[in-house]
Amino acid sequence: MEIIILPDAAEVGRVAGAKIASIVAGRPQAVIGLATGSSPQGIYAELARRVQAGSLSFAEARGFALDEYVGIPADHPESYASVIAREVVAPLGFDPSRVRVPDGRAADLAAAAKEYDGAIAEAGGIDVQILGIGSNGHIGFNEPTSSFASRTRIKTLAPKTRQDNARFFDSPDQVPTHCMTQGLGTILEARELVLVAQGAGKADAVAAAVEGPLSAFVPGSALQLHEHATVIVDEAAASGLRLSDYYRYTYDNRPDWQRFE
Ligand code: F6R
Repeated sequence: MEIIILPDAAEVGRVAGAKIASIVAGRPQAVIGLATGSSPQGIYAELARRVQAGSLSFAEARGFALDEYVGIPADHPESYASVIAREVVAPLGFDPSRVRVPDGRAADLAAAAKEYDGAIAEAGGIDVQILGIGSNGHIGFNEPTSSFASRTRIKTLAPKTRQDNARFFDSPDQVPTHCMTQGLGTILEARELVLVAQGAGKADAVAAAVEGPLSAFVPGSALQLHEHATVIVDEAAASGLRLSDYYRYTYDNRPDWQRFE
């Protein structure tokens, strides 16, 4: 795992954006796993800046969202279908027909979840999966005790997650209770993982995921099983890490072949 500690949230977005851009520049048809929420917004801003400058294009890329709420209409402004359309597809210039979000409104949710994993496989698998991390250690909406082998499926959102996401809704009780999320097993099949976290509220989760024991209780610790995972955090989110001096030394002395900015 590569751990990159940067001074602030703006740098996290810029550097993580540069990493995604380098992958898409090398493979314009790349399949990208798309997280929602606050954490990846700096990445999408950096990518949009490059698209506007004409140095990057997502016209041939494909996208698969990580998760979706169950129980709110697709046109609700906080459904992840709406968020992905507004914050990713439009600013990055994706072809909307090449971007999918789990169908949280399907009559048969279990069948829709299975079909979603099948569609990812049919697209050739995810080249790079963008991830945030919940304050309780979840990735996607794989809440604590999610199996490392789990596939895309329905999950009950933890009370802490509903509380954390209440800021996106008019009142806390409007936050859906259920979701459809890529499983940890699905996420681990992506060829590369890029997780970003900002702020002190993520410090415990980042430390547990990166340096703690491998445990379904901390779903983010699944990254330790992946051969190509990069964790990009600001100083505040890094504040619980014990080996931060080593991570800084490693990044400062990285060989040229490892540079993507
Ligand atoms: C979003 C997702 C979640 C978020 C996490 C952090 O698609 O899968 O794991 O990444 O809840 O949320 P923010 O970034 O809003 O702090």
